[in-house]
Amino acid sequence: MLPFPIRNPHLLDHLVPFVVTTPRNREALDLRPFGVSLHPDGEIDPLRVASQGFLDLLHRLDGLTFGPEGMPMPRWVFYDCSELPGAIYGLARPAATLWPEATALFQVPAGYQGLVPLSMYIAIPMAHRGVWFGHNLASAAPALRVAGMRGVDLGGLGSLTKGLALRAFGVRHFWGATQWDSDALFIHCKFGPLRLATAWTPAHSEPATLTYGFDVTDTSLRASMGDTTVAIARPAADFWIRAGDTEAMIALQDRIEAGERFVIPGPPRREGDTQWTPIAVDADAAPLAPGLDPRRRGLGPGLGDPLTP
Ligand SMILES: CC(C)(COP(=O)(O)OP(=O)(O)OC[C@H]1O[C@@H](n2cnc3c(N)ncnc32)[C@H](O)[C@@H]1OP(=O)(O)O)[C@@H](O)C(=O)NCCC(=O)NCCS
Repeated sequence: MLPFPIRNPHLLDHLVPFVVTTPRNREALDLRPFGVSLHPDGEIDPLRVASQGFLDLLHRLDGLTFGPEGMPMPRWVFYDCSELPGAIYGLARPAATLWPEATALFQVPAGYQGLVPLSMYIAIPMAHRGVWFGHNLASAAPALRVAGMRGVDLGGLGSLTKGLALRAFGVRHFWGATQWDSDALFIHCKFGPLRLATAWTPAHSEPATLTYGFDVTDTSLRASMGDTTVAIARPAADFWIRAGDTEAMIALQDRIEAGERFVIPGPPRREGDTQWTPIAVDADAAPLAPGLDPRRRGLGPGLGDPLTP
């Protein structure tokens, strides 16, 4: 139960939180974000063989969600780029009470007694304390709807997972990367206007990727989970980028590299299969958040206190 209204309060009746990280990293996390406790079986240590069953299912969740996007993660990416340096936070349901459609979709092995992860958020600490890079958001809710699961409303699962995870990780300044045609942009925009660090990104395997950031505050987190009592100021759009319009992305990237600043002020709009994303000129050319702006330092060195033995 959260201390403020959210879009779908029943989610936390159906699902329980888990975290995957090393015991040492766990000390630096808030394992009761907004007072929501982990399930007793919800602390998963990737250094232990006993975690394998759960991690197999987490890999399955990635395959079900990112497989169709063409970006499923090899197992070593999970280990090297999230479980060891950062953390994975998500919502799960005990196998014993899992809905039959989900048991079939996840191919839960007979006899498995643990939690089955239905959503996850992965982030990696950047070089300055409090600055994190969002690596992966996955929710099985859409796949379960397609698989025919009815009667259980999992709407809002992706948004709730990202909001709780950012609080659990202690993120102060967030960066992420996503594609201009991604459904997930509807979620990312719930946190408030997104500052653009790139609009065209050849360093990524999908150059039509944007790099976006925002400051993580109580207000941004509550808004992301659907608390309509908090208000976020959003500038009006100056122009729109059509997903697929690489010339417009490259032109915007040129302007960013020349020192202009832009935000995505609000959610995209869909016209048929085409996604349009609003862009507002940041007339003050405010510096980017720490981590990616050479003019702003972070809060200190990385995750945790390096001086603590
Ligand atoms: C993207 C993903 C996490 C969404 O999960 P989810 O549980 O459906 O997320 P939520 O229900 O919290 O939010 C989805 C929001 O997007 C909106 N949305 C999605 N597609 C939309 C569309 N075509 N038009 C309008 N709104 C749309 C929904 O209406 C909802 O907003 P609402 O809460 O205001 O109604 C899930 O589909 C997924 O795992 N996708 C594959 C992996 C991926 O792309 N991850 C993100 C990488 S950056």
